[in-house]
Amino acid sequence: MKIITSMNILRQEIQKHKDSVGSIGFVPTMGFLHEGHLTLADEARKQNEVVVMSIFVNPLQFGPDEDFDRYPRDIDRDRELAENAGVDILFIPDAKEMYPDELSVTMTVHKRIDVLCGKKREGHFDGVVTILAKLFHLVQPSRAYFGLKDAQQIAVVEGMVEDYFFPVEIVRVPTVREEDGLAKSSRNVYLSESERKEAPVLYKSLKEAAQMIESGKMSVDAVVIKVRDILQNETSGKVEYVEAYSFPQLSPVDDLTGEVIIAVAVQFEKARLIDNIIILLNEEGKSACLEQ
Ligand code: PAJ
Repeated sequence: MKIITSMNILRQEIQKHKDSVGSIGFVPTMGFLHEGHLTLADEARKQNEVVVMSIFVNPLQFGPDEDFDRYPRDIDRDRELAENAGVDILFIPDAKEMYPDELSVTMTVHKRIDVLCGKKREGHFDGVVTILAKLFHLVQPSRAYFGLKDAQQIAVVEGMVEDYFFPVEIVRVPTVREEDGLAKSSRNVYLSESERKEAPVLYKSLKEAAQMIESGKMSVDAVVIKVRDILQNETSGKVEYVEAYSFPQLSPVDDLTGEVIIAVAVQFEKARLIDNIIILLNEEGKSACLEQ
């Protein structure tokens, strides 16, 4: 595995591969790797000749009161995990490399952000698309791998790729979970012992929601209220949102067909956890759980 910190060297390396072999699979991350990230790398390994992973804690996507400074980092461990996952090139730039100067042209997301995390995390998705546009230009991937755990991020990135004709296929990877159902996340380390015990309730409530819709007894609106009740009663965290939308448009669910996402966010003392489930509603309103 090659470890590269300079964008010029990365460019040269990518050029070599472009000239000789086929597809490049790209896994952008902020590091502190866990099985979720490594599953994206596995998928990339299966489908491409070359696998590039980036590790960059992108300051632009953190708000002033968010956890940029205390975001967990462990580069030595990450290197080992990436190498074992079959990554060919690990790109670890610093902030000066990615943002050498104040930007003279900035990117602003207009759609799919006035709901879910976008509502509270103002400017977050602007930061995400800015770094991804830079990384996509450097890496020139055929496919880029994203986790459905961050479903709104996938929806926004798919919008950017479509609008700006990025020649990359966005591959959606199902959420990887702990045995008890908690979605793997770098931020799970912030949970206290008792919060960690409560945290699987997020997924449990989403599965119940899917079943309630599938049974045909409850509307999506009623299910949203029910999920909120479960989270309020069974966790000590503050329920930030329980919302349901069409996916990936993230617009209100008016007719009950197609892909519907039910997403939740709970703020615990030091960790804010998110999770979601995507359901495919057919003509009869019956559902099949999709992708995760
Ligand atoms: P990060 O939070 O490190 O996540 C990197 C990728 O791993 C994202 O696509 C995320 O959805 C995926 N991922 C995280 N946990 C997962 C899980 N439990 N199962 C499956 N996939 C999971 O998301 C970011 O970084 C950044 O916003 C980034 C895209 C790198 C831009 O800075």
